[in-house]
Amino acid sequence: MNKPEVYVTRALPPPGIEILKECCNVEVNRSEDAPPKEEIIKKVAGKDGLLCLLTDKIDREVMEAAPKLVVISSYSVGYDHIDVAEATKRGIYVTYTPGVLTDATADFAWALMMSIARRVTEADRYVRGGKWKIAWAPTMLLGAAVYGKTLGILGIGRIGSAVAKRAMGFNMKVLYYDEVRPPKEMEEELNLQYRPLDEVLKESDFVSIHVPLTEKTRHLINYERLKLMKPTAFLINTARGAVVDTKGLARALEEGVIAGAALDVHEREPIEPNNPLLKLEDKCILAPHIASGTVEARSKMAEIAATNLIAVLKGEMPPNLVNPDAQKVRPLSKAKRIP
Ligand code: GLV
Repeated sequence: MNKPEVYVTRALPPPGIEILKECCNVEVNRSEDAPPKEEIIKKVAGKDGLLCLLTDKIDREVMEAAPKLVVISSYSVGYDHIDVAEATKRGIYVTYTPGVLTDATADFAWALMMSIARRVTEADRYVRGGKWKIAWAPTMLLGAAVYGKTLGILGIGRIGSAVAKRAMGFNMKVLYYDEVRPPKEMEEELNLQYRPLDEVLKESDFVSIHVPLTEKTRHLINYERLKLMKPTAFLINTARGAVVDTKGLARALEEGVIAGAALDVHEREPIEPNNPLLKLEDKCILAPHIASGTVEARSKMAEIAATNLIAVLKGEMPPNLVNPDAQKVRPLSKAKRIP
């Protein structure tokens, strides 16, 4: 058997590529940016495996161009950029990297929450902008308390529950909404209270989004839903940009419907220059999709993405499989490319 051929859409932190090279011929896109779709289409022809990022749209057209492809391994926990149903139909295994970025992402959701509540980015601009003229003033840059407040979590999966766990140290009341209720023991352990979506929005001082992007969650948070929130409340999004309707959010911030927002993810990434949120700098913190960006998490993600991909090419069950039904079309023994 010749070594299988693998295309990797971006250079990864070690040890991702090194693991792949042990048993595959690896071609890596050397550009710092995402390869254009035409490039992916050209490169996947003749490849057995594809290792992609969340910025690569992997749809039917890409799969059609890759008749030998048996595995798409994503270097991400979200997989809304991949047409999973199409992959399953073709017996292509889709894998992802859950778990290893949970804490990094939950930490960042908290960093955003603390920063927007206590006006950290605004305070930095204040000092650097030469506005700090009075040494100390009782009402300078007053923020909102976090300790003891009510946190609403939308989506109580791995990351949502890690955010809830941190809230225990802040003595918060934690409400959550999810389509699927977790086991009672988990609710008790994390001190969680279930509420319907609208109730979470009405009661919370902070609402943090942790749902995947699906057709059901697209624009889940729109102007109408934002109007249910308290005028003193904050919205945090580290999930996917399109879960929030940007225009509705900008309007809500401009009208004082809610107090502020802190977003790591955006409907368009990079953000478009005329995005209305760019002008609302004191009410809205914007980060460039870096919630999982710790040295530790990104390196673990590279290792897991490579390990998932190789498992399939060895005809073994990958540790993190998105579409078990792919086995019905192509059993793992038929995906085997590494003896
Ligand atoms: C980050 O957004 C990821 O899905 O890994």
